[in-house]
Amino acid sequence: MMSETIAADVREVDPPEGVIRPLMPTENAIYLDHLLRLDPLSRFSRFGGPTSDNALRRHAARAAAAGATLIGYFEKTILRGVAELHPVVTLPGKPRVAEAAFSVEREWQGKGVGSALMRHLVRYAQNRGIEHLQIMFLASNGRMKRIVVHHTDDLDVAENEVISCVRPPRATPFSWLREVMDGAFSVIHTFVDLRARLLPPPLRGQ
Ligand SMILES: CC(C)(COP(=O)(O)OP(=O)(O)OC[C@H]1O[C@@H](n2cnc3c(N)ncnc32)[C@H](O)[C@@H]1OP(=O)(O)O)[C@@H](O)C(=O)NCCC(=O)NCCS
Repeated sequence: MMSETIAADVREVDPPEGVIRPLMPTENAIYLDHLLRLDPLSRFSRFGGPTSDNALRRHAARAAAAGATLIGYFEKTILRGVAELHPVVTLPGKPRVAEAAFSVEREWQGKGVGSALMRHLVRYAQNRGIEHLQIMFLASNGRMKRIVVHHTDDLDVAENEVISCVRPPRATPFSWLREVMDGAFSVIHTFVDLRARLLPPPLRGQ
């Protein structure tokens, strides 16, 4: 099958440091802090136009209210990248659809964070029976296009934007096991990181 063939090409190298895990509903404030740290060009690429701080506040509030899933990349306990999954309401009997979008802070771009978030997002969608994952981005966004073509060849290119559709494979015991193991790893990593931060500086080993 096409999606399995493409998925086999995806690099399984995670970013060198950091943890990827879903955000809890109580973590909306750190999501907003991350959005507010995005530079103007990254905001433009993410939202398709100039985006004010107030617009970001409204977006974060809407995401929380609409029950979007946010998968975060944390480095030293600070949220530096997010993959968003917004469910789309469809008629009964139609494929389950969600829209996805990504944001990585400037200093962390080009280091594999977006690619790793995409892999986690596709697995998350796979394990929840989402059949179509739509990702929209500006046609000039070379990095986003590179990420997407590792997962699909279904790209609809218009003048300034690309609408792509990733079809996650069906869930398997292995895909669930990977998610459980990722979750366990992130809990251990976060615990070790926080514990190190509670130690006095001379004992932190940094
Ligand atoms: C787009 C974005 C999510 C990509 O994440 P990232 O962590 O920067 O990207 P990665 O480091 O994982 O690299 C992704 C791919 O782009 C390639 N790449 C890196 N720098 C690149 C560049 N300057 N130009 C083109 N491709 C580049 C990488 O080699 C990789 O491709 P490969 O897997 O075939 O080797 C991130 O840059 C971002 O948040 N940008 C601002 C917001 C945005 O554009 N969101 C997307 C709209 S939803």
